[in-house]
Amino acid sequence: MKVAILGAAGGIGQALSLLLKTQLPNGTELSLYDIAPVTPGVAADLSHIPTDVKVTGFSGEDPSPALVSADIVLISAGVARKPGMDRSDLFNINAGIVKNLVSICADTCPKALIGIITNPVNTTVAIAASILKQKGVYDPARLFGITTLDIIRSNTFVAEVNGVSPEDVNVPVIGGHSGITILPLLSQSGFQFNADEAAAMTLRIQNAGTEVVEAKAGGGSATLSMGQAAAKFGLSLVRALNGEKGIVECTYVEGSGDKARFFAQPVLLGKNGVEEILSYGELSDFEETTLNASLDTLKADILLGELFKE
Ligand SMILES: NC(=O)c1ccc[n+]([C@@H]2O[C@H](COP(=O)([O-])OP(=O)(O)OC[C@H]3O[C@@H](n4cnc5c(N)ncnc54)[C@H](O)[C@@H]3O)[C@@H](O)[C@H]2O)c1
Repeated sequence: MKVAILGAAGGIGQALSLLLKTQLPNGTELSLYDIAPVTPGVAADLSHIPTDVKVTGFSGEDPSPALVSADIVLISAGVARKPGMDRSDLFNINAGIVKNLVSICADTCPKALIGIITNPVNTTVAIAASILKQKGVYDPARLFGITTLDIIRSNTFVAEVNGVSPEDVNVPVIGGHSGITILPLLSQSGFQFNADEAAAMTLRIQNAGTEVVEAKAGGGSATLSMGQAAAKFGLSLVRALNGEKGIVECTYVEGSGDKARFFAQPVLLGKNGVEEILSYGELSDFEETTLNASLDTLKADILLGELFKE
C-alpha cells in the first residue's frame, strides 16, 4: 500500500505526514511531494521515527515520481486563508494547482483514491472530477472531498457543552464544506438542543475555521486539527482498501445528485472507494430549512468548478 501526500511540506501536509508515519499499518509506503525544496528534508526527518513505514520525499515542478503506484493520494497543496478571506477567495490560486496535480494523478496513478483537502473543497472537487473525466479515468467512487474537520469539530464542541468525552460523540455533517453549506446533524448527536441552541451550535461549527484563521492572526488556517482530520479519513481509506468492512465516513462525493451533484453525507467505504452512499436519515425542521437555504450556494460553488478553465 502506498499513500502519497501532495502539499506535504505545508502546515497540514507536515502534520498529516507525521500522523501517518506513526499510524499507518506496517509495510505501508508514504510518499511526500511539495513544490517546496524542503520536502526531501521533511521525509528525512520523519524517516528517523522508528515505525515500519517507509517515507520518501520529492520536490520541484514534477509530482509524478511521488505518484508512481500510489493507492491513495491526499492533496493539501495550495494557499491557506488569511484573516478577512473566506474559502472562496482561495479559488483563483488553488483551482489551478488542484487541476494540475489531479491531471498528473490521472496520468500516473489513474486508479488511486484521491482525497482533496485544498479549499474551496466545494469547488476544487468539481474541478478534479472534470479533469479526470477529460482524461477518461473519472470514477466517482474514487474521488473525495475531505470534510472530516467539520465532523471532529462538531464532536468536540458538542462534547464540550454536554460535559462528556468527545470520543463518545458522533455528529454526522452533511452538505458542503464552507459557511452555510456545512450542516451538522445535531438532532442525530444523541444530545438535546432547543431551537436557539441548535442555531448557535450550527453557527459555531460553520465558523470554526474562521475562529482559527483569526486566532492565528495572519499565520494561516487550521493545520493541526486538519492534519488529524485528514489522517483519520486517510486511515479509513487504507483500512477499507485492506478489506476491513463497515467503515463509514462523512465525505463530499458525487452521488445521486438529488440535492446537489456533489454532497457530503455518510459513505460506506470499500475496496473500490465508495461502496455505498448511505442515507443521512431524518432531519429536524431546523436542519431541513437550513439545508434548503444552502443548496443554491452549494450548487453555485460546484458550477464554478465545472466551468473552470485555466
Ligand atoms: N479541507 C479542509 O477542511 C481544510 C482545512 C484547512 C485548510 N484547508 C486547505 O488546505 C490547503 C493547505 O493549507 P495549509 O495550511 O497546509 O497551507 P500551507 O501554505 O501551509 O501549505 C501549502 C503547501 O502547498 C505547497 N504547494 C503550493 N503549490 C503547490 C504545487 N503546485 N504543488 C505542490 N505543492 C504546492 C506549498 O509549497 C505549501 O508547502 C489550503 O487550501 C487550505 O485552505 C482545508
